[in-house]
Amino acid sequence: MTTLDLPHLNSLVASPRVLKVLSELHAEAAAEGPYLNPASSLDKFVALDTDKCAFVYLLLRSMGARNVVEAGTSFGLSTIYLALAVGQNALSAAGGPGKVIATELEAHKAARARAHWARAGPDVEPWIELREGDLRETLKTDLPESIDFLLLDIWTPLALPALKLIQSNLKKGAIVVADNVEAAKDGYRELVEYIETPENGFKATSITFSGGLGFYVYLGQE
Ligand SMILES: C[S@@+](CC[C@H](N)C(=O)[O-])C[C@H]1O[C@@H](n2cnc3c(N)ncnc32)[C@H](O)[C@@H]1O
Repeated sequence: MTTLDLPHLNSLVASPRVLKVLSELHAEAAAEGPYLNPASSLDKFVALDTDKCAFVYLLLRSMGARNVVEAGTSFGLSTIYLALAVGQNALSAAGGPGKVIATELEAHKAARARAHWARAGPDVEPWIELREGDLRETLKTDLPESIDFLLLDIWTPLALPALKLIQSNLKKGAIVVADNVEAAKDGYRELVEYIETPENGFKATSITFSGGLGFYVYLGQE
């Protein structure tokens, strides 16, 4: 299988096994053409860019994040970064239990994701709980009491519903990252309006990654 030599992988503390899987999966993702709309992407990775993945991994390590939710998992590539960070944080001196709650609607994508996590092995797989089905149902119950981080990498109409489902469990200082907020500005309008309404408890900026990365900090509702 083709592998890619990705400079962003140097940002990770990771075993050769994990790095090999990431490199192979990024090569697969890069070999796919761009997708035009959700319907045309059913068999595609549509994965988070490598620089964003590395950024999110380092952010989670810096925060010591142990409870993470991913809205939109697809074939599980970004989830590997999240789980690697959560597992390393959980096993650190200041650690404790941790998990990544991953969410995927399409059963065949969920199956591919599980296979990728198995290939990545024990530094990754045990830290992931995959909830298959519509996240508007699967995120309704059994959430960690204190969530550190939410990755919104989902069709834009689902971003705000996902955030609202977990908001009451976000800890103060939790971070929410949304992919492609500039490129998909129209789709994200409701989310951004909600985030920018002071009573909802967030402060926002965006980072100039390709397509724009929304960066929101939950400071809590007064
Ligand atoms: C952009 S992709 C996620 C990519 C992934 N985060 C990565 O970087 O590897 C978005 C995914 O959300 C899934 N999805 C769409 N609607 C959903 C829903 N209602 N509940 C759960 N997942 C959904 C799609 O099937 C798609 O695989």
